[in-house]
Amino acid sequence: MSTKNLHIGIFGLGTVGTGVVELLMKKKDAPGNYHFILEKVVVKNPNKKREIDVPSDFLSLNPDDILNNPAIDTVIEVIGGIHPAKEFVIQALEKGKNVITANKALLASYGSEIFNKAVENRCYLGVRASNIAAYRIIESLTTSPSKIEKLIGIFNGTCNYILTEMEKKGESFSAILKRAQEMGYAEADPINDINGYDTAHKLIVLLGISLGYFPPIKSVYTEGINNITLQDVLFARELGYRIKLVAIAKREEEMLEARVHPVLIPKEKWLARLEGIENGVEVRDEIGLEIGMQAPGAGKYPTATAIMEDLICISRGRGLFFPPRKSSITLKPIEKIETKYYLKFHAVDKAGVLAKIASILGDYNISIESVIQKGKGDKRKENEMVPVIMLTHRSREDNIQKALKKINDLPEVEKNPLLIRVEEGIF
Ligand SMILES: NC(=O)c1ccc[n+]([C@@H]2O[C@H](COP(=O)([O-])OP(=O)(O)OC[C@H]3O[C@@H](n4cnc5c(N)ncnc54)[C@H](OP(=O)(O)O)[C@@H]3O)[C@@H](O)[C@H]2O)c1
Repeated sequence: MSTKNLHIGIFGLGTVGTGVVELLMKKKDAPGNYHFILEKVVVKNPNKKREIDVPSDFLSLNPDDILNNPAIDTVIEVIGGIHPAKEFVIQALEKGKNVITANKALLASYGSEIFNKAVENRCYLGVRASNIAAYRIIESLTTSPSKIEKLIGIFNGTCNYILTEMEKKGESFSAILKRAQEMGYAEADPINDINGYDTAHKLIVLLGISLGYFPPIKSVYTEGINNITLQDVLFARELGYRIKLVAIAKREEEMLEARVHPVLIPKEKWLARLEGIENGVEVRDEIGLEIGMQAPGAGKYPTATAIMEDLICISRGRGLFFPPRKSSITLKPIEKIETKYYLKFHAVDKAGVLAKIASILGDYNISIESVIQKGKGDKRKENEMVPVIMLTHRSREDNIQKALKKINDLPEVEKNPLLIRVEEGIF
């Protein structure tokens, strides 16, 4: 068998780029008589101290050293952000080069354009590293003969670490976040993780490759974990649940439900048991087959390994199958979903208040499964507010929203009660 080579150019030598270069230096040969040959690494800052010794003639500040280098047939983009990553990816594809990217933010915003470019130019587009919680099942999402009915995943290691540690250590959100930053589990600016956008980007990429449609980010209901307190984590535990930030996609006839928000999951369920930076995804198809995958949510080697898997696919001549591009799919508005709800009110600790709340919920067909009220009995001060937790039976979100608006007007109840949806998971 003749030997063929993949000539690789990498944009970026940060956390992920360094991992890829290390793995490439360790393992040049791919199964199937291919060699991986690193030609160039383009970076931004010429004088930065690097974690890895890369010969100086490999490093460049000039994107043309990759884009206009006919010897390079495969480009790895690990710089992040939208610009100039998008221009590098598009230009590489236009020049007939295979592209591998870990950039979920870019794919979530311009996935359609980038995938079309790859198809048009008959190039391989590798996206496994954009969602490493799911990278080993990405191929089955694109090739499964039966439609996916439901997908639910924990896609953000920072959030999962914070929520796990809150429960285990009994410490506040901000104390755990600070420690996560010190330990390198959270970025200096973790806003995209905490507010749910990183999870939403990863969901959009999975939808794009499995359905041929990348929903616009503004159409995917996205809520982060900013409002979750230690008190909620502990109340959830008392009720037999754990709080997790999840991405959910469900097909219902021709409508698609796609949303990202914290949920209460029964604590014996598989997703509820994923702890710390661990991520995972479970999928059920229309004939009831269920598959899942667990992986660390981020990090140098897990991400670099997903990129290596794409390199191996290129070396074996295996392209990702893309479903026909769709121009739109109708997304179900969040108001139309139906699930169980955890509701937390702060209400004056006196007789009759609970009954008033329950009566408004009843007016909107919302029945209550369980209640926790932490009254202070004889020790209470006049008009002191105490938390009241209610777990509802399945109800429609629009009814819940209308009832909460009415409850908001009660003088005995603090404004803006907390709502967390309940999710049963797949396995
Ligand atoms: N970190 C993870 O665990 C992880 C996991 C999954 C996916 N990802 C994704 O992987 C990508 C890279 O993440 P990272 O954590 O490795 O980022 P990073 O550590 O910040 O590294 C970014 C690299 O890109 C280079 N760069 C930035 N702008 C550039 C430009 N205009 N031209 C050339 N090079 C440029 C930087 O150059 P200098 O070194 O010269 O500054 C740096 O080497 C992102 O899309 C991220 O979302 C990361």
